[in-house]
Amino acid sequence: MSLIAFMQAQNCSNYAGSWRHPASTPDFMTPEYYQRIARTLEDGRFDLAFFDDRLAMPDIYGADHRLTVEHGVRAVKLDPTPVMMAMAAVTSRLGLGATYSTTYYEPYHVARLFATLDLMTRGRVAWNIVTSLNDSEAENFGRTEHLEHDLRYDRADEFMEAVMGLWDSWEEDALVIDKASGRFADPEKVHRLDFHGEFFQTRGPLTVPRSAQGHPVLLQAGSSGRGQRFAGRWAELVFAAYPNFEVGKKQYAALRTATEAAGRNPDSVKIAPAVGVVVAESADQAAEKRAYLESLAKPIDGLTLLCEVLNVDFAARPYDGPFTDAELAAVSWQSYRDRIIQKSGKKNPSVRDFVEVSGRGTLREGPSFVGTPVQVADQMESWFTGGACDGFVLAAAYTPGSYEDFVRLVVPELQRRGLHRKEYAGATLRDTLGLSRPRAGDRPSPADRRELGGKAKAEAG
Ligand SMILES: Cc1cc2nc3c(=O)[nH]c(=O)nc-3n(C[C@H](O)[C@H](O)[C@H](O)COP(=O)(O)O)c2cc1C
Repeated sequence: MSLIAFMQAQNCSNYAGSWRHPASTPDFMTPEYYQRIARTLEDGRFDLAFFDDRLAMPDIYGADHRLTVEHGVRAVKLDPTPVMMAMAAVTSRLGLGATYSTTYYEPYHVARLFATLDLMTRGRVAWNIVTSLNDSEAENFGRTEHLEHDLRYDRADEFMEAVMGLWDSWEEDALVIDKASGRFADPEKVHRLDFHGEFFQTRGPLTVPRSAQGHPVLLQAGSSGRGQRFAGRWAELVFAAYPNFEVGKKQYAALRTATEAAGRNPDSVKIAPAVGVVVAESADQAAEKRAYLESLAKPIDGLTLLCEVLNVDFAARPYDGPFTDAELAAVSWQSYRDRIIQKSGKKNPSVRDFVEVSGRGTLREGPSFVGTPVQVADQMESWFTGGACDGFVLAAAYTPGSYEDFVRLVVPELQRRGLHRKEYAGATLRDTLGLSRPRAGDRPSPADRRELGGKAKAEAG
């Protein structure tokens, strides 16, 4: 069972109200805060700590950042890559993942950054590929509005072609480093990419040779039809958002089918839903802890965070007025919208439906496992063995406490049941996840790809 920590380099956990908890430590702008969590997760033999990201403050509600800042609704957001390197410095096996956007960065930049991070951690890095979500992000990067949903994925596909090509520009044994002959590397084994796509151009070669795990592990979290096709093609680990076990089982099967449809072995992709956990020594204590945590949420948290992911300003709309079909079609996070439509039973939900049905900004947003260590482990075991997932992305209710509770109480129970490792299998994140190591040259070369593309066009024509 893969265990992944859903980390944020921000002033609260994934649960916006968490910063108000008395045990939430206020040192989230220091390396020590992240290092303390890193040590805890490695003690618990977690596969990975992965950081989400957003390239703007959540300020779409009311078209103003004042409420966001005043209430601390994820108002601070640090760049996740240096933060995860602070964690790398005090661990040796824990995987470290960061979210980077294919919409606002360039392929060469991302390829170089993540290849370097992978070397500096000796092969423990993962990249969460996202296409970003809203106009505030667009405005921070010199654009006026965010791109349409499917177009973002089309660009992302091309972005991946370019990044994978750059990562392959050094063959495995290109480095010679022979001081006697004066030969540093074999020029026949370092290649230009000469990538000319519809959206991106990059020449190469990359200036970073291969890492211990070949290249960073690829993560992805989109779950619309288009998102699943993208994941089926590229992802090695998929983060899912299941409303419950039954729907989860269906989504799990659909993602495996999308992987097969992309010509890959479905067993080469791991799927992990995000879940919250509140655990304590007794069931009563766990319920009390959860009730207290729930009392920390404020309505502004949910409103702000919904507007952020849907890219819609709720303050400019009537609370009970239904969204038109055209407005719904323009929503940024389509699988999120579809979940609300399905759960509310309304084809055209209102702001009220989005707020009440989603539970965003509260602990009700996603599934939670609450109870004693045995009760929590029972629920995790039933999802895992019942065919809904290969592991879990654990969203902390408050930090660092939630991770410390989980590692102290639930991890030993999972280990006792043989569901979770007692020791890491190897040194790289791929070893930990049981993923194979890609070799440069596994993928068709640019020339072969052009030929394949030509053949496909000729056949289609
Ligand atoms: C667990 C999880 C984590 C995510 N993390 C991020 C993130 O950090 N940054 C981001 O821009 N989008 C994030 N997303 C959103 C997805 O990348 C994607 O944009 C979104 O699901 C919309 O695509 P879809 O309509 O195909 O689902 C996350 C989604 C899930 C389920």
